[in-house]
Amino acid sequence: MAGRERNQTDMDKGIVIPDDWPGYPLDLFTSPEHYCEDLECVYIPHGVIMDRTERLARNIMDDLGDHDIVVLCVLKGGYQFCADLVDCIKVLCRHSNKTLPMRVDFIRLKSYLNDQSTEDLHIEGAENLSVLSGKAIVDTGKTMKTLLDHVEAFSPKMIKVAGLLVKRVPSGTGYLPDYVGFEIPNRFVVGYALDYNEYFRDLNLCLIFLCGKQFFDKQKVQ
Ligand code: HPA
Ligand code: MG
Repeated sequence: MAGRERNQTDMDKGIVIPDDWPGYPLDLFTSPEHYCEDLECVYIPHGVIMDRTERLARNIMDDLGDHDIVVLCVLKGGYQFCADLVDCIKVLCRHSNKTLPMRVDFIRLKSYLNDQSTEDLHIEGAENLSVLSGKAIVDTGKTMKTLLDHVEAFSPKMIKVAGLLVKRVPSGTGYLPDYVGFEIPNRFVVGYALDYNEYFRDLNLCLIFLCGKQFFDKQKVQ
C-alpha cells in the first residue's frame, strides 16, 4: 500500500500549521471582489504553496529519478497542485542531469457534498495507471484508500502519493501520503482549485481561504 502511517517521525511530514493559526487578513492580498464577503482569511499564501511544491518536486526527483512515471492527477481539486508539481519537476530536470520521463493521466473523484465527506465515492477515468498520484487534500484518508485499491488493480511497479494538504481529522484513518505539503487543522479550505460546491476554484490568485459561515448557509445543497 502506498503512503504511510501518521506516527512515523523520520520522514518529511509537511509543514505543520497549528490549530490556532489565524491566517493573514484578506486586505493584505488581492482577492476577487465577488468572493470577499465569503472569505475569512488567507490561510496559506500562494508563494508559500509554490515554494513547498518545489521542494516536494525535488524529493520526488530524488526518489523516482530513474523511473518512467505516470502522474495521475486527482480531479477536480488536484489539478492546480498537479500542474504546479509537474512544472516544478520539469524545471528541476532541465537544471540537473536527471531525467524523469512522465505521462500525465487524470482521474475524477467526488465524495463531498457541501463541506461534508459522504460515503459515496465516484471514480471516473484512468484506465492505465500509474506511479505518482497527486491529490490536493487528504482528510479522513478513506477516499485515498479506495483510490489506491483501484490503482493497485492495475499492478503498477510502484505507487507514490503526493498530497498538498493533509487535515488533522479526529476520525482519520492515519493514512499519510508519501509526500505532504502541509498538515492543517480540521477546517474547510477553498481556492487553489479546491471548491465548496464548485465555487472558489477560480481563485486564481491561488490563495487558500477559509469560508465565512454565511456563504455555507447561502449555498448549501440539501
Ligand atoms: N476544501 C475543499 N475540498 C475538500 C476539503 C476542503 O477543506 N476537504 C475535502 N475536500
Ligand atoms: Mg470538492
